[in-house]
Amino acid sequence: MPLRQRSTLTQYLIEERRRFPDSKGEFNALILDVALACKAIARAVAMGELGGLYGDHAAQEGGAINVQGETQKKLDVLSNELFIRVNEWAGHLAGMASEEMTDPYQIPGKFPRGKYLLVFDPLDGSSNIDVNVSVGSIFSILRAPQDAIDSGRDLVESDFLQAGATQLAAGYALYGPTTMLVLTVGNGVSAFTLEPNLGEFMLTHSNLQVPADTQEFAINASNSRFWEPPIKRYVDECLAGKSGERGKDFNMRWIASMVAEAHRILMRGGVFMYPRDTKDPSKPGRLRLLYEANPIGMIMEQAGGRASTGREPMLSVTPTGLHQRIGLVFGSKNEVERIERYHSEPATREIDNPLFAERTLFRA
Ligand code: AHG
Ligand code: MN
Ligand code: MN
Repeated sequence: MPLRQRSTLTQYLIEERRRFPDSKGEFNALILDVALACKAIARAVAMGELGGLYGDHAAQEGGAINVQGETQKKLDVLSNELFIRVNEWAGHLAGMASEEMTDPYQIPGKFPRGKYLLVFDPLDGSSNIDVNVSVGSIFSILRAPQDAIDSGRDLVESDFLQAGATQLAAGYALYGPTTMLVLTVGNGVSAFTLEPNLGEFMLTHSNLQVPADTQEFAINASNSRFWEPPIKRYVDECLAGKSGERGKDFNMRWIASMVAEAHRILMRGGVFMYPRDTKDPSKPGRLRLLYEANPIGMIMEQAGGRASTGREPMLSVTPTGLHQRIGLVFGSKNEVERIERYHSEPATREIDNPLFAERTLFRA
């Protein structure tokens, strides 16, 4: 289809806005600002070492550690800065929260405050930056509490602790062979491809649907000794392939950029698991609820897929902390529901568990 026949992101948003006749266009303007931040990040990522942007932030001081306990990359910090600078001034936001900032970001007094909250992971898959593997940005838009909107007060953590089902919009940018923006405003999922000469996101995929079945699973298998039994059971059945319970062979993928995995699953099906495991009891999962699991979860559910903790729908979880980690399973509906079923069944007796070994009073 020639470019002249394609819609731009702006046109798509205006057409979507027609569902809300008395809306004033602030929501659309906010999404366009988020898209601009993503375009700026795409340019920085594309420059890589040419822009002097590989490596750790503040490396000369031994590297800066963020609230996650992770060493920040230069591009993590720059991406966070770009999200803040591009979105803070326009008066659409009551405040922001980021993977890279311990506390909520207060809109400076010189700018007006608005009615939305922007929550984001400015750069997902950071471990892949210096080796030129696809990375992305993830964002979620919530409505600020009415008293904060009315008073323009500073925000506190609890203002952000809203279940994923309350998200007004969610999406991600994928900085891959092409730069894409995948977005839902609550009416299905659409994808836009950046036309770099125009600097415009052009609508290339409408009403995306995740295939209900798959033969592809994604998990970091190096953690298998820490998995809970239901995940162990599911992965073992995938590995058993045609000769096992599933009667079909499976393929495995692990990119270590969740955005790239999510996009593959959105486009051709699959299931992604970063489950709650026993590796670090202080971390009930690797991924963060507010700016990774919830926005990706909204995209998956809006595209007919499922997103779950393994035990309950992801979007029904009430957050308890800005940087709360959680076990995450998402993708093809029938696979996620199978994994949830395995979690709901009583644990099979673990014969290799000494507590359940057969005991007898009679000597062998
Ligand atoms: P981030 O770079 O924002 O910290 O997120 C990385 C996440 C996610 O993108 C990916 O699926 C996961 O970390 C990879 O974890 P492992 O390195 O443990 O495989
Ligand atoms: Mn991330
Ligand atoms: Mn990140």
